[in-house]
Amino acid sequence: MIEIRNVQTIQGRRITHKIASEETRVIDGTNLTLLPALIDPHVHFRTPGAEHKENWETASRAAIAGGVTTVFDMPNNTPSCITAQRLKEKKQLIDEQLKKAQIPLHYGLYLGADQNHLDEVPKTKHQIVGLKIYMGSSTGDLLMTDPAALDKAFRIAAENDVLIAVHAEDEEMIERRKKEILSSGQCKAALHSIIRTPEVAARAVHQVIELTAKYKTRLYIAHVSTKPELDLIRQAKKSRLPVYAEATPHHLFLTTDAYQHLDTCALVNPPLRDHTEALWEAIHDGTIDTIGTDHAPHLLEEKRRAYGSAPSGFPSIELYLALLLNAYNEKKISLEQIVRFTHTRPQEIFRCKPNHDVVLVDLNQSRTIDDKQLQTKAKWSPYAGMTLRGWPCYTILKGRVYDPSDFFVPAGT
Ligand code: DOR
Ligand code: ZN
Repeated sequence: MIEIRNVQTIQGRRITHKIASEETRVIDGTNLTLLPALIDPHVHFRTPGAEHKENWETASRAAIAGGVTTVFDMPNNTPSCITAQRLKEKKQLIDEQLKKAQIPLHYGLYLGADQNHLDEVPKTKHQIVGLKIYMGSSTGDLLMTDPAALDKAFRIAAENDVLIAVHAEDEEMIERRKKEILSSGQCKAALHSIIRTPEVAARAVHQVIELTAKYKTRLYIAHVSTKPELDLIRQAKKSRLPVYAEATPHHLFLTTDAYQHLDTCALVNPPLRDHTEALWEAIHDGTIDTIGTDHAPHLLEEKRRAYGSAPSGFPSIELYLALLLNAYNEKKISLEQIVRFTHTRPQEIFRCKPNHDVVLVDLNQSRTIDDKQLQTKAKWSPYAGMTLRGWPCYTILKGRVYDPSDFFVPAGT
């Protein structure tokens, strides 16, 4: 039995919290607050094919360090995860890596949508958390732009009660704008946000909402980052369509200013914006359902290549909760909302089985983010140098306590 004594609940009560375990352990919760462990609905842990950037050994440590015990992993691997056979092979590799790490993380996998393999959806429907459609190109070769294929994917997903998760950026518009903008010879990273405009995202969101209206497919719109997308989603929700929206930490906490100091390291798809106000409004009015990290690690040497060759994406899972707790301390979000976006809504939307995992946080601990102390294999962060107040201290997964002596750096060092 694990007994956490005198710990604070998010409502501010002091309780003793007990968790069934083979260990006998008492934790003094006097300076700690108890939250359900986080469910991150959007990660790229890079197995198979890009284990030099991340694998499930390093990523599971990063997840636990961030208070996360459940993740849903994207299919843009090498090769991409588009069939039952590849799902099976991927799962085997993941299980081996988690065993090595001795971290039995809960995880789910997305199937990648490929127009020639949509018959894999009914075959895999009980093994996947959703069907991921890339409408705009990003890392990997998954892409679905043909309207007939999109229509078919939405129909098949609806027939099989499979959730569609979508990367909503319009590829044709991206390509057109790339030609126009890059032909001027400019090659700055900041052009990324000028090429992939809010309209690029909104056009794709409009298209998928239409398909959801047609087939009533459950639709999860990943990394919503702009006001025009939010307006469309707000409208769809008013019409009672089964549309769910995810925001990412980077679109909530970073803006295009980041290009100045991060240059190509600031590249991400969809790109950084200047729409944080609209996103925070959507957090508060119920338009956003979840906050998912889109943890997408690449090595620094890859990120520092010239614009055009540098990959897009940030590692972020271990800073996910700390960024949100810091926002709580800045009075931008309540603890109840943090639990809603990182646990309750993901659990409902993805129909997860409940568990007893928790994270104990110290709301007053301040720490400056140091790249060298990160668990992710990528070993860098767009947030390096920021001082955050509010950090996870203990994560309890399946009755096992992961604590500072495992891999956290004690406060003040
Ligand atoms: O920035 C991104 N990186 N966006 C994506 O859609 C994919 C991700 C990755 O896998 O690197
Ligand atoms: Zn992603």
